[in-house]
Amino acid sequence: MLCCDPAAAAMVLLLCLGFLPTVATCPPHCLCASDIISCSGCNLSTMPFGLPSYATRLDLSHNSIGALRVDWVSQPFHRLTTLILNRNSISQIEVASFTVTPHLLHLDLSSNQLTVLNSSIFTGLRELKELLLIGNQIFHIKPGAFSDVDSLERLYLSANRLIAFPLELCEEPKGPRNLTFLDLSYNRLSKVPIQSLLSLTHRASVYLQENPLLCDCSLVALLEYWTWKQYSPLVDFRGEYPCIDGAVRDINCTRHGVMYIPLQAQTYRVEPGETLTVQCPGLPLPVQEGLVVFWVTPRTTLNSSAGDPSARRSVLPNGTLEIQGALLEDSGTYGCVVARGRYYHPSESPEVRVLVGNSSIPSNFGLARRSSAEHFNTAFTTLASCVVSIILVLLYLYLTPCRCRETRGKGSRGCGGRAIILCSDPQEVESGQRRSNGKRVAFLEPQAEDSEIGVPKKPAMNLDHVSTEGILKNGSRTVERTNTYQNHVA
Ligand SMILES: *[C@@H]1O[C@H](CO)[C@@H](O)[C@H](O)[C@H]1NC(C)=O
Ligand SMILES: *[C@@H]1O[C@H](CO)[C@@H](O)[C@H](O)[C@H]1NC(C)=O
Ligand SMILES: *[C@@H]1O[C@H](CO)[C@@H](O)[C@H](O)[C@H]1NC(C)=O
Ligand SMILES: *[C@@H]1O[C@H](CO)[C@@H](O)[C@H](O)[C@H]1NC(C)=O
Ligand SMILES: *[C@@H]1O[C@H](CO)[C@@H](O)[C@H](O)[C@H]1NC(C)=O
Ligand SMILES: *[C@@H]1O[C@H](CO)[C@@H](O)[C@H](O)[C@H]1NC(C)=O
Ligand SMILES: *[C@@H]1O[C@H](CO)[C@@H](O)[C@H](O)[C@H]1NC(C)=O
Repeated sequence: MLCCDPAAAAMVLLLCLGFLPTVATCPPHCLCASDIISCSGCNLSTMPFGLPSYATRLDLSHNSIGALRVDWVSQPFHRLTTLILNRNSISQIEVASFTVTPHLLHLDLSSNQLTVLNSSIFTGLRELKELLLIGNQIFHIKPGAFSDVDSLERLYLSANRLIAFPLELCEEPKGPRNLTFLDLSYNRLSKVPIQSLLSLTHRASVYLQENPLLCDCSLVALLEYWTWKQYSPLVDFRGEYPCIDGAVRDINCTRHGVMYIPLQAQTYRVEPGETLTVQCPGLPLPVQEGLVVFWVTPRTTLNSSAGDPSARRSVLPNGTLEIQGALLEDSGTYGCVVARGRYYHPSESPEVRVLVGNSSIPSNFGLARRSSAEHFNTAFTTLASCVVSIILVLLYLYLTPCRCRETRGKGSRGCGGRAIILCSDPQEVESGQRRSNGKRVAFLEPQAEDSEIGVPKKPAMNLDHVSTEGILKNGSRTVERTNTYQNHVA
C-alpha cells in the first residue's frame, strides 16, 4: 500500500501531476500536492510533525489519533479551510486547539469518540460554516460549546447519544446566528422544545427523525403544522417520526375530533395603533385543559401558557392572539399551531394574513412553504462544483503529459491506473441505509500499456449508479481526492 513506501509514492504522484517535489516540507506518511495534504489511513497515533502551513485542505482521516492538543501544529495554518479528522479515536480536544486554524470553513470530526462537548471547545473557529460530528458518543453539550462559532451554517450531530436538545443553537445572542441546517437524527431525544423549533425552522432545516420522541399534544401540533407546510426535513423522513395518523387520533388533545379549518388564509386588516385580535383558525372552544396554543409570527413564536397579558403581543388562554398598538412591521403571515387531531388538507389554512395600515401583502407570504427554489439552487451549485471536478479529472487524464511513462519499465505502474472521484455526501452518511450506494463517479482508465501517448484513451464512464441526489447535495468540500491518489499509486 501507499504508506509502505511513502517517499516513492509521493514522488510518483508529484511527477505525474507535473510538480517538482518540494522535499523538505512534506512529513513522512503523507502526500502533499500543491495545497492539499493527505495523511489518511496511515495508522498515525499522534499528529504528524512538521505539517506544511501552506495547506488549504488537510486530511488526517482513518488514523488512530486520540487527542487534539493546543500545540498540534507548530505554527498557525492561515490558509487552511478544510480539516478532516474523521475515523480517528479522538476523545479529547483541548480548549483553544483550533485557534491555529482561524479561517477554517469545514471541520469533520465524525466517527470519533467524543462524549462531552466542553465550553469553548471550538474557540477560534469564527468563520466555520460546516461542522460534522456524526457518529460520536456525544451525550452532553455544555453551555458555550458553540459560543464562538458565529458563522456556523450546517451542523451535523446525528448518530450520537444526545438526550437534550442543544437549546443554545436557537438562542441568538449565544449561538450561531446563521444556522440553516441542523441534523439531530439518530439520537436519544424524547422531548424537543416546540416553541424554539417553531422559531428556528423559519430559517433552518432541522432533522429529528429516529429519536424516541414522545407523542404528546405539542409534538402533534408541530408535526401537523410541518406536514401542512411540506417542511422537507419532516416530509422526507415521515415514516421515521412518531405520531403517524392513527396515533394522532388516539391521543386526546382536542374535545372534538374533526374541526372546521377555513379553506383560505383569512386576512385581518387594522390601522396602526389599534388592537388586533385573531382567533386561532379551526380551534374548537373551550380549549381543552392544558392544551398549549402556539402562534408563529413573523418575528417570534408565542404561546398561550406564557400568561403575560400586559405584553404587547400575547396569546390568550382561548388561543386568541392579541396585539396591542399594532405597528406597520406587525404585517405578515401568522400561523396558529395547535394539535387539531388530524392532518389537514393543503387547501385548508391554519395561517392568517395580517395587514397593518395600507401596507401591501407582505413579501414573506407563502415563502415558508416548501422552498424548492432554495433546494434547487443548492443542488445546482453543488452539481456545478462536481462537474468542475470531473472536468479537472478529464483534463488530467487526457492533457497532462504523463511523465511516469518513463518509469514504467522500472517496475512502477505509473499513470495507467485508475482515477476515482468520490462525491460523498454527509447527509448520505447520516441517512446511510436509505440511499446506500451510488455516491461514486468512477472513471476507469484501462491499463492499456501499449496505447500511444497523445491518443485519447476511452475511459469507461459509468454513470448508471450515480445517485444524482448524492452528487447534488455534495459541496466542493467533500470531493475525496485522496482516494484518487491512493488508487492511482497503489
Ligand atoms: C499501528 O500502530 C500501532 C502502534 O502505534 C502498531 O501496534 C500496529 O501494528 C500498527 N498497525 C498497522 C496496521 O500498521
Ligand atoms: C471535557 O472536559 C473534561 C474535564 O475537564 C475532560 O475530561 C474531557 O476530556 C473534555 N472533553 C473533550 C472532548 O475534550
Ligand atoms: C449571516 O449571514 C448574513 C447574510 O448572509 C451575513 O451578512 C452575516 O455576516 C452572517 N453572520 C455571521 C455571524 O456570519
Ligand atoms: C379523551 O378525554 C376525555 C376526557 O377528557 C375522555 O372522556 C375520553 O374518553 C378520552 N378519549 C380517548 C380516546 O382517550
Ligand atoms: C411558552 O412561552 C414562554 C415564554 O416565551 C416559555 O418560557 C415557555 O417555555 C413556553 N411554553 C412552551 C410549552 O413552549
Ligand atoms: C377569548 O378570550 C378573550 C378574553 O378572555 C375574549 O375577549 C374573546 O372573545 C375570546 N375569544 C373567543 C373566540 O372566544
Ligand atoms: C397609505 O395611503 C395613503 C394614501 O392612500 C398614503 O398617503 C400613505 O402614505 C400610505 N401609507 C403608507 C404607510 O403606505
